[in-house]
Amino acid sequence: MIITKTIIFASTEDGAIGLNNDIPWKMRSDMQFFKKTTTSGEVNHLVMGRKTFESMGSKALPNRIMHVVSRTPENIKKAKDVYAYKSIEQAIESIDNIAKLSDPAISVWIIGGASIYQQCIDIGLVNKAIQTIVHGNIKGDTFFSMPEEGWVKSEPIKYLAGDRDDHPYSIVTWMKL
Ligand SMILES: NC(=O)c1ccc[n+]([C@@H]2O[C@H](COP(=O)([O-])OP(=O)(O)OC[C@H]3O[C@@H](n4cnc5c(N)ncnc54)[C@H](OP(=O)(O)O)[C@@H]3O)[C@@H](O)[C@H]2O)c1
Repeated sequence: MIITKTIIFASTEDGAIGLNNDIPWKMRSDMQFFKKTTTSGEVNHLVMGRKTFESMGSKALPNRIMHVVSRTPENIKKAKDVYAYKSIEQAIESIDNIAKLSDPAISVWIIGGASIYQQCIDIGLVNKAIQTIVHGNIKGDTFFSMPEEGWVKSEPIKYLAGDRDDHPYSIVTWMKL
């Protein structure tokens, strides 16, 4: 059974999420939040684009199953708990099939990058998103923002920068209307 499909992302206030195929800030607190959230289900499946997978070292994150989308999935580096697909729909179909055979509830986390987030919104795959807003003057070359219409956003919960954070940040949750 799949219980949730959720986008999780971090962006600046103007929507920057990446620079040079990397994350343009060092935010230990957000990394811990990402880890805690994406391991919070009984079984956690992560869906991502090829560039995001490569930016994370082309391997699975501990205790999570990686589903990578590429137009040439045969070129994705083989690794334990890593599966590659030709499309987002194929990735989701495969997770659905795993879910049918699985007792523990499955949580699906859409972890980026921009192209995957946008397509998941456009095809109506998700009805929830969790956003970390990084407050700072930060340069980016990859951008993603949630739609202005059809979604409602929670009040931001604000946090000061911790010892190993470049910036203060806020966390908001988006729900589809
Ligand atoms: N701040 C955050 O929360 C966050 C999260 C994740 C990533 N990022 C950042 O975002 C940037 C990467 O984002 P991105 O948008 O450039 O790349 P991406 O979404 O990670 O990957 C794009 C690639 O995914 C594949 N793809 C996308 N749509 C597809 C489809 N419909 N069918 C088949 N394959 C498809 C293609 O791979 P092929 O070229 O192999 O065909 C495409 O080139 C990096 O800077 C990364 O660090 C930030």
